[in-house]
Amino acid sequence: MYILAFETSCDDTSIALFEDAILRSMHTKSQVKIHEKTGGVVPEVAAREHANSIFEVLDAVLKEGGVSLEDIDYIGVTTQPGLIPSLLTGITVANTIATSLKIPIIPIHHIEAHIFANYLEREEQEIKFPLVCLTVSGGHNEIYAMKSMWELEKIGGTIDDAAGEAFDKVAKMMGLGYPGWPIISKKALMYRQLSLHSLVRSKTESGLFPRVWLDKKAFDFSFSGLKTAVKREIDARIETSWSLREEDIQEISYEFEESVTEVLAYKLIEAAKMKQVSTVMLAGGVSANTILRDKIQLLADTHELEFLYPKKIQYCMDNAAMVGINTYYKVRYEKYERDIYQVTV
Ligand code: KG4
Ligand code: ZN
Repeated sequence: MYILAFETSCDDTSIALFEDAILRSMHTKSQVKIHEKTGGVVPEVAAREHANSIFEVLDAVLKEGGVSLEDIDYIGVTTQPGLIPSLLTGITVANTIATSLKIPIIPIHHIEAHIFANYLEREEQEIKFPLVCLTVSGGHNEIYAMKSMWELEKIGGTIDDAAGEAFDKVAKMMGLGYPGWPIISKKALMYRQLSLHSLVRSKTESGLFPRVWLDKKAFDFSFSGLKTAVKREIDARIETSWSLREEDIQEISYEFEESVTEVLAYKLIEAAKMKQVSTVMLAGGVSANTILRDKIQLLADTHELEFLYPKKIQYCMDNAAMVGINTYYKVRYEKYERDIYQVTV
């Protein structure tokens, strides 16, 4: 069984070819260089770039996989959530192929696909239920209790910004470019190394910025207040030194990353304790972050929990492999409607 999977929900044009659960080829055209100029994604610009790249990406995937369109049995495509103009580009191409070949097309939910990224290069039985999963990306930030791969209960989420979004905005405030988290992480690492060498630690024991726990026993997040605190700190430093110096950027990056990751890790483990599960899982673009992973791992070890995250960095950020593996399991467990050749947002 061959599956062709499309992901165009934001700023990556990604297509993958699967033979059953095995990823045969994947090509992703990132738009980062284009969106860097505006410090974020402009939906119309993203859609135009998807339209310009999608056939080139498709050709590369088929060529590398050694198959032609006629060999494909199923199509999976992200239909929600995401930027509508971007989603529509992938959906239109996917619908056209499905309709002309009369093969089933399966709508895929972007967050579910991020969670399914954990199945890439893993046997199905390696993920043991029940478990609790934290999803952290640019647009989403939730905690799900999962009884099986299909039974998700949302037990918490952000009441304002997602963590990734907060990083993107803080990076923009400091003139650091897009996407924010990897850049801020690099600056934070420089501060960590500097701090270790000179034994200079942060201003107070608990850090420069507050930990936004909300209710410590509940699983909702809020990052917009923290973002305002960072803005105030940046403004204060500019007022005293006339500009934001490199050492200020590094310290603020470190303190901000610490504040966000501490809350995310703590709440995931609390959720696992409340739901009495033995496994915690991480998904979404920010699951690539080593500080967040390390914090969760430390707490998971303390509480004797198994901790899973996607096997490769490219499976963390938006990619069509996660859509393909989600499609594979939907076909295998018959979680799709037959004779559907068109989907929409
Ligand atoms: O899942 P994702 O690729 O797109 C959305 O669905 O939103 O997540 C994007 C987020 C951005 O906020 C970006 O700052 C963050 O993931 N990100 C990273 C890394 N690359 C992108 N965070 C940590 N480490 C990375 N290497
Ligand atoms: Zn995503």
